[in-house]
Amino acid sequence: MFSADIITLFPELFPGPLGASVLGRGMNDGLWSLHATQLRDFATDRHRTVDDTPSGGGAGMVLRPDILAQAIDTVAPPDDLRPRILMSPRGKPLTQARAHELATGPGAVIVCGRFEGVDQRVIEARQLEEVSIGDYVLAGGEVAAMVLLEAVVRLIPGVLGAPDSRDEESFENGLLEYPQYTRPQTFEGRDIPAVLTSGDHGRIAKWRHQQSLELTQARRPDLLK
Ligand code: ADE
Repeated sequence: MFSADIITLFPELFPGPLGASVLGRGMNDGLWSLHATQLRDFATDRHRTVDDTPSGGGAGMVLRPDILAQAIDTVAPPDDLRPRILMSPRGKPLTQARAHELATGPGAVIVCGRFEGVDQRVIEARQLEEVSIGDYVLAGGEVAAMVLLEAVVRLIPGVLGAPDSRDEESFENGLLEYPQYTRPQTFEGRDIPAVLTSGDHGRIAKWRHQQSLELTQARRPDLLK
């Protein structure tokens, strides 16, 4: 079973949206599990401090390596084979390919950053894989962790209904998805493209592929390189 552990200063944010709809049902059905751990529980002082000022100066605070390492080792001892991921805008961009890899593995231990960053030594010592969900900066890693898990968990067999409804969606074939239509036949003077109601499955497939190509060229030419 895919098992996700989150290390965060805000465990009460979980499962949040991950507990709703098909992902929540998949959790109830035992297809995956989620546990959030309070990082502050591993602080050693009276004030439960987890961060300190950056060495060399500068703004903000940095998560202490000793406290984070203790949390990681408690949640996932060295023989735990799950990848250890740190949500960070410095990370490698999350891709559909990485989501597929994670979905077929044993799960993930996900550290949510806050403050200005995490001491580099714990990133190296625990081999944290830094993952970004995009080129913008969030206030913390919690929403980013939810994005990663939502992308991964929906790929676990049995979580989503029809497995083949995934094959044609954006990114699964390297292209953006073609436009979709349903009833009514006419909406505010706009008709469904005639090819889609022609019954000619060969022509429909060709039209959809052409639409995917044009959309990808216009919006995401980087995907075609
Ligand atoms: N934490 C803050 N910004 C982030 C981003 N873009 N991706 C992942 N984690 C983050």
